[in-house]
Amino acid sequence: MIENDITINEVKKILSDKKRLAYVRSFGCQLNVSDGEKIKGLLKRIGYDFTDDEKQADIIILNTCAVRESAEERVFGIIGSMKKLKEEKPSLIMGLAGCMTAQEHVAEKIKKSYPQIDFIMGTSAINSLPKLLLDCLKGEKFSADTGEYDDFSENPEQVRESTFKASVPIMFGCNNFCTYCIVPYVRGRERSRKPEDIINEVRNLVSNGYKEIMLLGQNVNSYGKDLGNNMTFPALLREINKIDGDFIIRFMSSHPKDASQELIDTIFSCDKIAKHLHLPLQSGSNSVLERMNRRYTIEQYSETVDYIRSNDPDFSLTTDIIVGFPNETDSEFRETLDIIKRIRYDNIYSFIYSRRTGTKASEIVDTIPEEVKSLRMRELLEIQREVSTENYKRFVGRRMRILVDGVSKKRTGYITGKSNEFIIAEFAGDKSMIGSFVEIEVTDSMNWAVSGRII
Ligand code: SAH
Ligand code: SF4
Ligand code: F3S
Repeated sequence: MIENDITINEVKKILSDKKRLAYVRSFGCQLNVSDGEKIKGLLKRIGYDFTDDEKQADIIILNTCAVRESAEERVFGIIGSMKKLKEEKPSLIMGLAGCMTAQEHVAEKIKKSYPQIDFIMGTSAINSLPKLLLDCLKGEKFSADTGEYDDFSENPEQVRESTFKASVPIMFGCNNFCTYCIVPYVRGRERSRKPEDIINEVRNLVSNGYKEIMLLGQNVNSYGKDLGNNMTFPALLREINKIDGDFIIRFMSSHPKDASQELIDTIFSCDKIAKHLHLPLQSGSNSVLERMNRRYTIEQYSETVDYIRSNDPDFSLTTDIIVGFPNETDSEFRETLDIIKRIRYDNIYSFIYSRRTGTKASEIVDTIPEEVKSLRMRELLEIQREVSTENYKRFVGRRMRILVDGVSKKRTGYITGKSNEFIIAEFAGDKSMIGSFVEIEVTDSMNWAVSGRII
């Protein structure tokens, strides 16, 4: 940190006292968004203000995601279109951060074919930003600092996107190596933050008025295993639940193979923990799950769901589904549809399988045509629409506590928010309520949200 302070002062000197503007855009998951907030924290210390208009910016940083090809293509498109900005303003500094940069073949491609990019900052190298900037200002290009996975989590400053919802990473990396997934390759092995650092951060956020704390990790259920002090995720949850204040605790993601009874008992026994669980299923077929290296069976997954529903038949579950894993047969896909109907998720996030270079699944010769995968996706979405429409009816006539988070894009005079169960609600209200809890009575339901009135 001291080393960084010296570098920050040096950068400040070169930039002099002129006000500079930074444009930082994060793609991908909330962990990446959280990294983007840390990048902004460092830029703020250097003296930058922020803009949402890339044309105004003196520095542009794209914090990228590599989970699917579409995410990468989007970023390449943006980099391409930014070439013109650089021509118009040669002093503009452009950097790439995030998961794309951690793939060697992508970093090479950028160096070779995209001269408008001045630096690449690996996922483990956020704290090197002042150094990278200094190199750029001295005329050096492509300081591709990817380094070891250091503990960059205890950054002193973070420029948060919201004043009432905060993401708090509790661990980094992933050890699971699901065969389709690039994350373990671009984020390294699991590293847990110390419980006292997490608890202090949450305490500070709550005392600064934050109402929703989202604990983040690729598999929060393995939190603490690397700390060597018997700390577990349920124990951490119980500690956070003890913090004084009116706030709600959420967490993502929870790997089904490690979703223990203790975790579920903790959700039910802690008043601040949301009564909602995101439990990524990926596929309803045991043979596909095995090829994915998910390390649970449908029977084990169903047991967890049954245990939850025996405590609360209405408990809200959401999931992730991958359609078209290499050589997924029609009957394997039908098994996914069956379980979707049986479990009745409130929401699913579904993706067509995307081949990621370097992963195990990328070596499989896939015989399923893309058109078949698209048709399956449409069928899955259609079925889920029916399930959600039916499911959401259960809320009509009930009271819900909502954290208001914005104004309705469709109806003037209406505001929106999320319920404890992670259901979107829309109702008449004033935008001054954004960031506070309100109680509503649900009067109607749709397949994506409920509507009601404040009581
Ligand atoms: N660690 C989290 C997932 C992070 S990635 C977990 O295990 O739940 C978020 C989701 O993206 C995954 O759950 C999966 O459904 C999807 N995904 C990951 N790799 C993918 C790929 N190669 N193609 C399509 N979807 C993918
Ligand atoms: Fe990817 Fe699996 Fe790790 Fe999630 S648990 S990040 S899907 S490898
Ligand atoms: Fe994407 Fe990296 Fe997150 S690959 S989903 S931004 S961990």
